[in-house]
Amino acid sequence: GFDMKIAVFAGDGIGPEVTGEALRILDALDLPLSYHEGDVGGAAYKKHGHPLPQATLDTAKACDAILFGAVGDFDCDHLSRDLRPEQAILGLRSANGLFANLRPARVFPGLEDTSALKPEIAAAIDLLIVRELNGDVYFGEKGMRTTADGLREGYDVMSYDESEVRRIAIAGFEAAKKRRGLLCSVDKANVLETSQLWRDVVIEVSADYPDVTLSHMYVDNAAMQLVKNPGQFDVVVTGNLFGDILSDQASMCVGSIGLLASASLGERKTEFGTFGLYEPIHGSAPDIAGKGIANPMATILSAAELLRHSLGQEEQAARVEAAVAKTLADGILGGDLGGSAGTREIGDAVLARL
Ligand code: NAD
Ligand code: IPM
Ligand code: MN
Repeated sequence: GFDMKIAVFAGDGIGPEVTGEALRILDALDLPLSYHEGDVGGAAYKKHGHPLPQATLDTAKACDAILFGAVGDFDCDHLSRDLRPEQAILGLRSANGLFANLRPARVFPGLEDTSALKPEIAAAIDLLIVRELNGDVYFGEKGMRTTADGLREGYDVMSYDESEVRRIAIAGFEAAKKRRGLLCSVDKANVLETSQLWRDVVIEVSADYPDVTLSHMYVDNAAMQLVKNPGQFDVVVTGNLFGDILSDQASMCVGSIGLLASASLGERKTEFGTFGLYEPIHGSAPDIAGKGIANPMATILSAAELLRHSLGQEEQAARVEAAVAKTLADGILGGDLGGSAGTREIGDAVLARL
């Protein structure tokens, strides 16, 4: 039937506050949407004894897309790693084969002055980080052991096989082809074997994309260049850990972490598009949770990505993005951007401009 099923996993901290606003926007679009809630994170642990219950995984599988808030709860930081809230997001990404994480960062007109960079440098930012999401040091063997000298030792194995690199490289080239045709691959090939393989495979894949200009950059330099001259970047393709760090950095280059959306995609197709998980790049922000002051824009923009990639609703996605841009241009800003608008007020303002 013509039913677009969205799994809604609000999670912890500000998660429910920001997803609440995104749902109000989706509701206003007059699409045949149905919502299917599920428990994740610390909230799920407290209710069911697990951060990612089987019922939540089942709900995800039965839907066309997931709208995800955030997970993370200090109360749970003492638990064994497999029971921590963060395992919910890691588990959803891996269980659903969501290996390509798209994190766009651009300066919205009028917000040049809210960037941590000089306005003329910030004004040029329009980039997309394509972060690998199912491998790297995140998913290698890890543990605690005792050395021969009786010292405690923690370890996390970093690895990529060539098929994992190839599929994310293809995602990077495909994205660049649709944008300005520039792909910068970020690695640490001067030190890491994983990165040497990464670089070799990206170069192999580049043969299929003669119209995309490929460059390579070490991650330390990339962090520097992102502040010095972010306008040079179009698409950045990188591993799980580097992409995590660079995307938080990119968020402050455009003004706030409360603005950055993400889409996590794999190969599974649905009736309307590609199955995906959509979430702000930020976390549960326990320092501001429950105060009604979290910026919901990153989640609203994530909902726009959901409309685009998973529901085939490009026009509606663009409509939501235009309403967000108008709201920001009108100076309706949260505390994170130096304004005073609350979560609900920002949601109202976007609704009014749809
Ligand atoms: P965080 O992103 O939650 O917060 C970092 C800072 O940014 C805080 O000062 C916070 O108040 C601010 N901030 C974040 N989102 C905001 C928003 N929408 N509006 C205004 N300000 C915002 O990162 P953290 O403090 O390092 O982590 C807190 C918890 O969240 C941890 O448990 C962490 O593991 C988890 N986390 C989860 C995700 C996720 O669910 N995908 C992502 C990152 C961190
Ligand atoms: C993110 C987060 C997660 C990550 C954590 C919470 C597991 O920081 O989505 O950026 O590192 O991927
Ligand atoms: Mn992160």
